[in-house]
Amino acid sequence: MRKSARLRISRGSPGAAGRYDEFDVPYEDGMSVLDALRWIRTNLDSTLAIRYSCTNANACKTCMALVNGEVEYTCVAKLTPAVITVEPLPKRPLIRDLVTDIVPEDEKV
Ligand code: FES
Repeated sequence: MRKSARLRISRGSPGAAGRYDEFDVPYEDGMSVLDALRWIRTNLDSTLAIRYSCTNANACKTCMALVNGEVEYTCVAKLTPAVITVEPLPKRPLIRDLVTDIVPEDEKV
C-alpha cells in the first residue's frame, strides 16, 4: 500500500480571515516538504502561494516557513508520512498563503 503525507497548510491574505486547507500527497522516501508543496501546486491547487528558487540546495533561503511550529527551509525539511502543518513565517508581513515579505527594510527602494 502506498504511503501518503497530509499537509495542513495555512491559507490567506492580509486583512482576510485565514484558514487551513489539508492535502494528501503521495509519499516517497527522501521527499522534502517543498517537494510536497510543489506537488500540491501541480496536481491539486495551482493557487497555493509558495516561494522557492534553488529547490534543494539550501542556497537561496527563500523557502522558509513554519513546519510543525519550527522555522525551517522547506526544501531541507523532510516529509514524513504523517500530518505536517505548514504556516508562513510569524514575524514577517504576510503576502499570501506561505509567502511573506522577507526583504530587509534597508534593502527596500
Ligand atoms: S529553495 Fe532555496 S533554500 Fe530552499
